[in-house]
Amino acid sequence: MSSLVSSAIEFIASRVSVRPKVAVVLGSGLGAFADSLDNAVSIPYSEIPGWPQSTAVGHAGKLVLGEVAGVPVAVLAGRAHLYEGYTAQQAVYGIRALHGLGVESLVLTNAAGGIKAGFGPGTLALVSDHINLQGQTPLTGPNDDSLGPRFPDMSEAYSKRFREIARQFAAGMCLELPEGVYAALPGPSYETPAEIRYLRVIGADLVGMSTVPETIAANHMGMQVLGISCVTNFAAGVIEQKLNHKEVLETGELVRDTMVSLLRGVLPRLV
Ligand code: HPA
Repeated sequence: MSSLVSSAIEFIASRVSVRPKVAVVLGSGLGAFADSLDNAVSIPYSEIPGWPQSTAVGHAGKLVLGEVAGVPVAVLAGRAHLYEGYTAQQAVYGIRALHGLGVESLVLTNAAGGIKAGFGPGTLALVSDHINLQGQTPLTGPNDDSLGPRFPDMSEAYSKRFREIARQFAAGMCLELPEGVYAALPGPSYETPAEIRYLRVIGADLVGMSTVPETIAANHMGMQVLGISCVTNFAAGVIEQKLNHKEVLETGELVRDTMVSLLRGVLPRLV
């Protein structure tokens, strides 16, 4: 493991005594869950050695450790994206640090454009699989054998068991949670309508600019992943409407309470 990640792990371990086994990364406009933890301790990314700062609007930039239903959890409120200029390795820095702290189950949330029919704004969908169109992966370069194998398997990148747990809990909330394939692009420009038609043809249901580097790094280290997309807008060209980040944040706000309830129910069941 890089000595910088090791120093981040040591720093966090010296600041908090809880050792969560489950963590969640909160996507654009989905930060409210961080404020719902009990006994929360918050550490700004700026204080943690080597941690990339999140510059995207709608991303807080702090690690929060606390409890949900008595279960210790870690929350990354804010992530580093490739479009901010970070490398894929930097984008997964937090995931590797969490793994070093003992986290084995990872929930990745994101804001996404809806490609599949019926995936309109406000839909919460489970990620069943992904297509990496970012042209980068965090595993490029010499393999760190202490983290995982050179050629990690990705045949169940998003845990079937976790999806079933999430669906069951959601059913109790009268929430459907359909599944979809998430295509990751580098951004930051939104897609063109022609790109969305292409993505539909190759099997994508959701489109976004994050999550995939984290999923690859997590699978490399043997972590189990649950992906939850919040559809914030119809993907480009699906309807006659221009896309903007304000709509993304506003839809995140609309589903806030549902997302918080879902995460509060699901996270303790993933340990
Ligand atoms: N495209 C890419 N990323 C996104 C979108 C989109 O339509 N909506 C939210 N994140």
